[in-house]
Order: sequence, then C-alpha cells, then structure tokens
Amino acid sequence: MAKILVVDDDRGIREMVALALRTAGHVVALAGDVAAAGEALARDPADLVVCDIYMPGGTGLDLLAELQRRPSPPRLILITARGTVETAALASRFGAFDYLAKPFDVKVLLERVAAALSPPAAPGPAREPGPETMIVGSHPAIVEVYKAIVRVARLHVPVLILGETGTGKELVARALHRFGTEPSSPFVPVNSGAIPDTLLESELFGHRKGAFTDAHRDRRGALAQAAGGTVFLDEIGDVSAAFQVKLLRFLQDGVVRPLGADAGEHVDVRVLAATHRDLAALVAAGGFRQDLYFRLAAYEIRLPPLRERLADLPALVAHFQGRAERELGIAPTPAATAQTLAALAEYAWPGNVRELEQVVRRVLIDARSLADAAAVRQALATSGAAPRTAPGPVAPATAGAPLASLEEAERRHLVSVLSATGGNKSAAARILGIERKTLTRKLRRLGVEVDLD
Ligand SMILES: Nc1ncnc2c1ncn2[C@@H]1O[C@H](COP(=O)(O)OP(=O)(O)OP(=O)(O)O)[C@@H](O)[C@H]1O
Ligand SMILES: [Mg+2]
Repeated sequence: MAKILVVDDDRGIREMVALALRTAGHVVALAGDVAAAGEALARDPADLVVCDIYMPGGTGLDLLAELQRRPSPPRLILITARGTVETAALASRFGAFDYLAKPFDVKVLLERVAAALSPPAAPGPAREPGPETMIVGSHPAIVEVYKAIVRVARLHVPVLILGETGTGKELVARALHRFGTEPSSPFVPVNSGAIPDTLLESELFGHRKGAFTDAHRDRRGALAQAAGGTVFLDEIGDVSAAFQVKLLRFLQDGVVRPLGADAGEHVDVRVLAATHRDLAALVAAGGFRQDLYFRLAAYEIRLPPLRERLADLPALVAHFQGRAERELGIAPTPAATAQTLAALAEYAWPGNVRELEQVVRRVLIDARSLADAAAVRQALATSGAAPRTAPGPVAPATAGAPLASLEEAERRHLVSVLSATGGNKSAAARILGIERKTLTRKLRRLGVEVDLD
C-alpha cells in the first residue's frame, strides 16, 4: 500500500486512475492542476505521483521540475494524451520515472505503478541529471529543443547550438553529451572567444615544449583530453580565419597535431559548437568560412530568447529560487506572486536565463522574498547596470520601444500579464483588476489568442 497523488485536469481520467489504484489497495489523493498538486504534496507527501503532461496553468514537466528541487522527490509517472512520446521520453531522461500514453489499460497502469514503487535500483540514468544540469521549461519552443536533443544526442555528428547570450547553450551541449552514447566519457569545454590564436590553438591541439615563447613544457590539448568524448567549442563565431582553417582540417581528417610537433595522431571526438552570433549572416558577410560552417552545423539547435517563452518564467523562477536558497544556505523563502511574476514578464531579458538567475538571487539576498514587489523592481532596475558582455544598458521591454498607441500598449500589457499567469485568464483578470468576462472580450477585440485555460 502506498500514497499516490493523481494529477489530471480531466476529471474522468482522474477518477478512473484513482479507482484502479484504490482497488489495488493504495491511498489516493487527487489534484486538478499543478498548483493544487504542489499544495497537496506540501500537506501530505506522496510515495508516487501520477501526472498528466498538458494541463492549463502549468504542465506535468513543471511539476517534475519542482519535485526535483526537493531533497528526496517522489517518483513521477507522466500520462500523455497528445502524440508526445518524444516529450515524455525526454521527460523520463530528465527525471520522470516512467510515462504512459493515453488511452492506457488499467493493467498496464498497475504494472507501471508497481515498478515505480519498488525500491530504487542502483542510481540509473533516469535520475542522473542533477538540478545544476536540468533544463527547465515546457514552452513549445523549448520542448522543440528537448526533441532535438533526443533526436541527435546519440548520433556522432557535430551540432551547432545557436542562441543569444545566457539562453542555455552550454546546458544543451552538456545534455547532448549526457544523453549521448558515451555519457561517462570526458566533456571538455573550450572558450574560443577572445583569446589570441596561438593560445587557442594550443588549448585545442596542445603544444610541444618550446613551440612558442611561453611553452615551457608539453601540453595536451582539449581534443586529446576529450578522446572518446565531446569537445564543446563555445563562441565559435569569434575565431580567426587562420584558426578556422586548422579546425576545418581537424574535422576533415580527425588528426590532432600539437603546435611544434612533427606528426599528429588520430583522435575520435565529437565536436559541439556554440555561438551567440548569427553564423549564417557572418558567412554571408565573409567573416566565417562556409565549408567550416557546413561541417559544424551538420545539425543546428536554436535556443529561444527568454522573452519569447515567458510562459516558462514561473517554473524558471522557482527553479532558481531553490538553487539560490541552497547555495546561499538560507531557509525556504516565499514564492513569487502573480504581481512580481508580471513585473518580471515586462522586462526585456537581454541576458536571458542567466540574467533571470542573477535577478532571483539578488532579490533573495536583498529581501529574502520573491513576493517583495519593491525588491523585484529594484533588482530589475539595476540588473542592466551590472557588467555584462551583451551590449548597452537594459530598459524595460516597453521603455525603449517606439511610442505605442493605447491599444498596442494594452495588448502588450495583457500579453505580459497572461504569460506571467501561464495563460490563466482568471488569475490575469484578478491582477488587472477587471472581470474575467471583460478580459475575454478585450482579448477577442485585440486579436490575442489564448489557448490555455
Ligand atoms: N532552461 C534552463 N533551465 C534551467 N537553467 C537554465 C536554463 N537555461 C539556462 N540556464 C542557466 O542559465 C545559465 C546560463 O546558461 P548557459 O551558460 O548554458 O548559457 P549560454 O547560452 O551558454 O550563455 P553564453 O552565450 O553567455 O555563454 C546557467 O547557469 C544555466 O544553468
Ligand atoms: Mg556559454
């Protein structure tokens, strides 16, 4: 007999699953959405959670992420109705124990539940990714990224990861390695931007003693260190033309010749590369070799900027809150409110997810509460002033934009509030201080489509 929490917005499914589990002798609690599930678990921890993926207000992946912040999370089985086996399969790699595709048989359900309740085996790959390497988010744009990771991780081809600064390119590179065929082989990151050619070459290919003035002893390069594993070439858009030739040669023949060495040796290594630049445009402008671009971009993964997936804000904020509490060694702090989330959603996030992590930490240090609207505003106002590589000072999304009509401003504001509430119209209406009906009418008039809720 175990305590099992069943989470599904579809009452029929919820009751059906509950009935099957109760008949099998389990104690069952029910929740209709992610928020209710969180509350139920806070009141009474469960041994197992059986959860739908797509629900208004937050998905099963959000709940999974939230559970994983806990010291000993219950196992979770995802139920999915849409043809999202890839999403579910990936979710399992990100820590879900198992998944079931609707419609499913009660017998299958009970078998999976029994397996999930059996004592944990030796730590397997399903539980491996720790909170530091977990990719949080369930916006369709980031789900596409998950699918791409699943598709290409086990193929021995170079992957080019594109996205603005702080969007999670290195996180994706690490996921590609971890879900690849040799997850325990080395993963060696090399920052190729802003280092002189000789150093970069020595970093990648190694050198022999005396190869250049400061080469006092032999050095093995990243490619040799990563043999059998993965090299991650970060900021590849910044390397010189001469270095591009050397890299291309390696990608063609796989031979590593350290600086100053007479001969090279063959090294088997997977190359992942990333840049925040528009590499195709750089190629068109003559700043990057087209042949090298084609080699590196055998497969491309594009990460969306944070401002294009604001629906993930609540989950990301909760994730970074947990991380900051652990790292700062402070007791659990109050969660962000709909108001503070709306303020965060209005910001432009030029530094993307990394900047969000810093803002969350800043608020926790200053005020110990993400519900503190003044502290959140203050952290946002000063965020752009912090040293960064991204250009220019930061202004709220609307401040720098051309002057908008009242209607346009209203549309933007409604969208930002709605994204902060995860598409929940009732919550958005409360924040806006209008009735839900009025909100629905405005949305229709302004042509804003909301498919959740
Ligand atoms: N989807 C996400 N879920 C959880 N954490 C994330 C996510 N995206 C980024 N992060 C975190 O944000 C920070 C920045 O991510 P990362 O270093 O991968 O970005 P990047 O794209 O490589 O940035 P840069 O171009 O500046 O090197 C890291 O701490 C990373 O763990
Ligand atoms: Mg990076």
